[in-house]
Formats: sequence, structure tokens, C-alpha cells
Amino acid sequence: SSCLVPLAKMKLLLLLLLLAACWPVWGCGVRTVSSYNNTMRVVGGWNAQPGSWPWIVSIQVPWAEGTGHICGGSLITAEWVLTAAHCFINASYVELWRLVIGTSNLYELGPEAQVRYIKTLIIHEHYNNVTHVHDLALLQLDQPVQCNYYVQLACVADSSVQVSKLSPCYVGGWGAMYEGARSLGRTKILPYILQEALVNLIDIRICNRSDWNAWIIEKTHLCAGFPQGGTGTCQGDSGGPLICKDQIGDFYWLVGVTSWGKGCARPQLPGVYSSVQHYYNWIVSHISAAQESSWRWGHSSSGFNQFYKPVPTQSYRPNPCPYPRHKLVEFFTGVEQLLNTLKRNRP
Ligand SMILES: *[C@@H]1O[C@H](CO)[C@@H](O)[C@H](O)[C@H]1NC(C)=O
Ligand SMILES: *[C@@H]1O[C@H](CO)[C@@H](O)[C@H](O)[C@H]1NC(C)=O
Ligand SMILES: *[C@@H]1O[C@H](CO)[C@@H](O)[C@H](O)[C@H]1NC(C)=O
Ligand SMILES: *[C@@H]1O[C@H](CO)[C@@H](O)[C@H](O)[C@H]1NC(C)=O
Repeated sequence: SSCLVPLAKMKLLLLLLLLAACWPVWGCGVRTVSSYNNTMRVVGGWNAQPGSWPWIVSIQVPWAEGTGHICGGSLITAEWVLTAAHCFINASYVELWRLVIGTSNLYELGPEAQVRYIKTLIIHEHYNNVTHVHDLALLQLDQPVQCNYYVQLACVADSSVQVSKLSPCYVGGWGAMYEGARSLGRTKILPYILQEALVNLIDIRICNRSDWNAWIIEKTHLCAGFPQGGTGTCQGDSGGPLICKDQIGDFYWLVGVTSWGKGCARPQLPGVYSSVQHYYNWIVSHISAAQESSWRWGHSSSGFNQFYKPVPTQSYRPNPCPYPRHKLVEFFTGVEQLLNTLKRNRP
């Protein structure tokens, strides 16, 4: 409503445009529900509020135990999910895997949740299944999602983002809440409510020291957690997002893809993430190439023109993530009613 105050005298069209800019579901990286909760319980985290990670994806193998969840991912366009390559080691029947988007509870999906299947799997061509460098994969959905309050795009960090200066940062996932949980029988111990935790980015030169991760950290990695351990990602969180708040704007950047760790949340062994900004060009070129080849073969496809790029001032830009028409109609009906009320109240 603070958006409206200086606008009372403006022309209708301008008002509509500005209202659209204030509308929380337009953009990327906006956490429509803030979720800070200090109840410590990922490892050292807490239950995330529904809608607080609207870009998070649960990748599920339908014939696996429990919910079938095996990895996380992030929605970066209406049709593409960014995740980790190692989720697909020994994978079979990938076309039958399920992607669940728009829920925090894997047992009760809720009306806004959307289930999709994998149309295309692109694994980083230099991914090394021994060292896990370039641990990145792209999944094309069988059909685009429709954005809503619980389904939104992440903002893909490019080289212009000064990642080391960002804070706070969070990790989220449905992975184990303590090390070894999986081998103890994952059905009972893996959470079905999304967990999130606050983490600090740790300088990769420190993370690479002989008494830490011992020289296996590359420039394309990020480390996040705490020197003393206690908080971090664990088995089942792989592929999921590491996000950090923008320095100025009220939105979050997708800066890392959960890759690996020695154990979970051990002292001086923080979680290791693929640094998204290092792969920005790889992501853009592979999505563009895949879209082009599908156009060439005559399949319909929603247009791809780079990512939605947030700016701190939130000027209006069209979003590549489509909304259901009835939501737009609802929204503009609301605006009309508001305008009528304003008109009536004018002295
Ligand atoms: C914090 O999390 C706990 C446990 O999940 C829950 O009982 C409590 O209501 C939450 N508090 C807030 C403010 O969200
Ligand atoms: C790991 O990579 C090597 C060489 O690319 C390949 O021969 C091997 O089958 C891979 N292992 C798994 C488990 O995918
Ligand atoms: C992949 O398959 C190979 C050969 O069957 C096995 O040795 C290895 O442990 C498997 N890796 C994973 C991650 O399941
Ligand atoms: C980590 O240490 C190894 C061994 O000294 C080195 O080759 C590598 O470049 C270092 N990584 C970074 C990011 O500096």
C-alpha cells in the first residue's frame, strides 16, 4: 500500500504499470514469504515456511523409498531447472523421474504445486565423476510451469554479481538432518518438510587449506557453512540452491548449486557448491541451443531471451514465467476496485 501513496493523481495506465511493479510475484528471487525461524533443528536448520523457496524443485525417483526424493534443483526459467550432475550417476529411466515444484511438504502438495517430467537432460560435458568438478546439470521440463505465489524463478547470478559481499545466505533442501541419517533408514529420517539454514560464505582460499578440504577446491566452487561446523547441507540436498540476498534490492541471487561435502556440517569442512556465476555462459548457451534445435524441429516452445534480470529499483519488465490468466484477471479486477474506491473517497 505504500506503493500507492504518491500515485493518487497519476494517469490510469501509469498507475497500473507501477502497481504491476509492486506486485510481489513479478520478478525473480523474491521470497514472497520470509521465513526466518530460530528453532534450530538441512543440518542445523529449521522448517521453511510454505512459499519461502518458490524456485526450489524436488527431484524424485518414483520407485525409491518414501517420497522418492533424491536431489534438489532450482527453477531458472519456466522450462528449465538447474541441478547437480552427480544426481544422475547410474541414473536409469530418467524420463520417468518426477519434478515437484511449488511445495514445501512432499506428502501434501497443495493446490499450487506442479509436477513435471524431464524432457531433456544436459550434464556438464567436463563433469568428472571422481573429483566432482563442474557438478552441474540442466533439466528441460516436459511443459513449462505457470508461476504463482508458490512457483517463482530464481535469479541466476552472472559475473557482475559481487557474490563474496552478499549476505545473508541460506541453503534449503529435503536432505538428511544429520550425517548418516540415510544409512539408518531414510524413509523415517529424511524430512518431508523443506528445511532451510542460515550459512556464511567462506573464502575458498581458507576452505582449500590443508587442514580444511585439503586442496581440492577449484575457482568454480563456493564454500558455505561455519568454521565450527554444525550447519550445512547433507545427503539429499544435492543440486539444491544456495541463495544470498542482494546488497540493495529485496530479492535473492542463486549463487550456488549444492555439490558435495566430507560428511555433513563437520568443523572445517563446510559444504561445497558449484558457483553459478562461473557457469552463467554455459547455462545460457545450452538453453539457447536446446531451444533452437526444438524450434528447428518444429516443436512449440516458450521463447527464451536470457534471464529476467532484477534491478534494485524494480522497474517494470515482462517476465518469461507465464501466469495463469485467471490470476491476472483477479489481480486487475482488484486494481479496478481499488481505483473506484479511491475515486469515491476523493473530496
Ligand atoms: C518455528 O519452527 C517451529 C518448529 O518447526 C514451529 O513450531 C514454530 O511455529 C516456528 N515459528 C515461527 C515464528 O515460524
Ligand atoms: C565415470 O566416468 C568414467 C569416464 O568418463 C566412466 O567410464 C564411468 O563409467 C563413470 N562412472 C559412473 C559411475 O558414471
Ligand atoms: C554406480 O554403479 C557402479 C557399478 O555398478 C557402482 O560401483 C557405484 O557404486 C554406483 N554409484 C552410485 C553413486 O550409485
Ligand atoms: C587449492 O589448492 C590446490 C593445491 O595447492 C591448488 O592447485 C588449487 O588451485 C587451489 N584452489 C584454489 C581455488 O585456489
